Amino acid sequence: MNLRSSCSLLFISSLLMAEPLTPEQMVQKGTEVSTALVQKLGGELKIQMLSGGPIAALHFCSQNALNLTDQLAKESGTSIKRVSTKNRNPVNTASSEEQAVLSQWQAMLNSGETLPAYKLVKLSTGQSAYYKPILINNETCLKCHGDVTEDSPLGKALQESYPDDKATGYKMGDLRGMVSVSF
Ligand code: HEC
Repeated sequence: MNLRSSCSLLFISSLLMAEPLTPEQMVQKGTEVSTALVQKLGGELKIQMLSGGPIAALHFCSQNALNLTDQLAKESGTSIKRVSTKNRNPVNTASSEEQAVLSQWQAMLNSGETLPAYKLVKLSTGQSAYYKPILINNETCLKCHGDVTEDSPLGKALQESYPDDKATGYKMGDLRGMVSVSF
């Protein structure tokens, strides 16, 4: 094969097989996508809380949080989710690899350490993932994830939509879960 045809072959195969991302690129993309998700959900939540109160916001979240997440995943060409060991939505259950990192972070918080901004991990599937901690960093979160009284209107609405809800009883500064982006 002459040089010219081997070069064009190389060119074609690089078009067919997207180059794997370098760790630096994963950090960059993971940071971009997770920040965009938190801003998007947080922004919508704020609007809904102000305009309709917590119950309207709750219904908005249950109907739209996953769609907004999927839309962002599509746009960015990644797979993205929010997961927790104490999840509200059964879909947001942490995998064993995510759970391992969450309990490591929980141990760090318990001993007064500051959490890293993110962690890059190699998954058993051979894929890589970018994990970013989600903390209860705003009093608003406690409206729906704090000590919600069971027979309050909000408590009832939560019970109705999420009979297996584990996501209450949080305090300010608690580890709520993570954004998990895989490539
Ligand atoms: C109006 C009620 C409400 C408020 C306020 C609220 N959440 Fe949630 N949260 C929900 C609902 C409903 C879900 C389940 C639906 C979904 O988002 O997938 C949820 C899910 C989550 C999840 C995904 C894991 C799981 O448990 O399913 C995380 C992480 C989360 N919330 C963090 C936060 C943080 C951090 C704040 C404050 C910035 C906050 N939430 C404020 C209602 C709320």
